[in-house]
Amino acid sequence: MLHAFTFAQGRVRYSNRFLDSNAYRAARARGAPGASVFAVDPGLSLFSRLLMGLLPFQLDNTNISIAQVAGRFLALTETPLAIEFDPETLRTIGAFRFRDRLHGHLTTAHPLYDAATGVSYTYLTRFGLPSRYQIMTFGARRRMLGSLPVTAPGYMHSFAMTERYLVLSEFPFLLSMRDILSTKVPLIGCFRWRPERATRFLVLDKRTGELVRTYEADPCFGFHHVNAYETGEGLTLDLIVYPDPSVIDQLYLDTLAQRPRLPSGELRRYVLPQRGRSARYAVVSPVGLELPQIDERQRSRRHRYVYGVGVSQRGAFFDQIVRVDTEQRAVAIWSEAGCYPGEPIFVPDPGACAEGEGLLLTIVLDGRCGTSFLLALDAATLEEVGRARVAHHIPFGLHGLYV
Ligand SMILES: [Fe+2]
Repeated sequence: MLHAFTFAQGRVRYSNRFLDSNAYRAARARGAPGASVFAVDPGLSLFSRLLMGLLPFQLDNTNISIAQVAGRFLALTETPLAIEFDPETLRTIGAFRFRDRLHGHLTTAHPLYDAATGVSYTYLTRFGLPSRYQIMTFGARRRMLGSLPVTAPGYMHSFAMTERYLVLSEFPFLLSMRDILSTKVPLIGCFRWRPERATRFLVLDKRTGELVRTYEADPCFGFHHVNAYETGEGLTLDLIVYPDPSVIDQLYLDTLAQRPRLPSGELRRYVLPQRGRSARYAVVSPVGLELPQIDERQRSRRHRYVYGVGVSQRGAFFDQIVRVDTEQRAVAIWSEAGCYPGEPIFVPDPGACAEGEGLLLTIVLDGRCGTSFLLALDAATLEEVGRARVAHHIPFGLHGLYV
């Protein structure tokens, strides 16, 4: 379901509408959800799995994120399918047709936009013998930049971008071709934790797609890159990291509904040095966080502040908004009894030029009354600026966009 908050003349308007996807229609016909690609068993048979690339209609539940590409609004997931919608009415326009012949099986719902050049980037993993990481521009007509053969592709939820480079972080959570052909589990269940392998950071030239360097680091797992930038020493890469992929077990719908216990993601700052091939890191936040956001004006540049949701010490699910000052290693927290916020989105003050001057917007479930509200916080202090209540609850989502 798409949700929109619109601000005008001092008032906030809320609207919502289901994306009219095949997955939605199938769920309506069945009377229950099911056709998803992450951690709900899609019940795909071996045959369906083999045809996955040919029969994408089961996998168009584009419920992970929203992107604005060349003035058009797309809902995205990790299959290479996008659904276009009208941002005013939230009406579904239809499956977005890429005007190119590129194809693959697994992509990211987090394409990155380079404001300096107006180019967006993404990757598209193609399963096969060998499998390939295909790096490309993102838009109506994608352009292939590079294609790296890989024996066992990793599950990569997002990536990072500096001024000149793209960085793919390949955690040792690798696709098992045998599982994808022989088991009846959701796609995420076809990846195997291989802690004997290193985490690899693949640094690619943004213009040519060429692999410039590969770094290794200790095995770990993560979904979200915060940001990356170039320094005199090499590249700096901020990531939210877990010791292993067991966080995925906590994201299954049954577990979330019955006994949620989300682990805390660690904010790590990796340095990929100009000399050598090993990456080292420091933990730059004293508390854990997820769904990280920055002031987008700092994208690919040195950033100081990171915002996200966190799990409090006595909590089991995201119950606080966290702001980290990575220079001072200092943290500010917003929380309220019985309240569960989602991803905080940074909105810069239109007159401001300094990093972090603006608001954070987040949708909060108020468990005390079973309804949700949009919360605006001063991004510098996490003090409340205002809230707009909705008459009902808004189901938890993942990622949003301010336009
Ligand atoms: Fe994400």
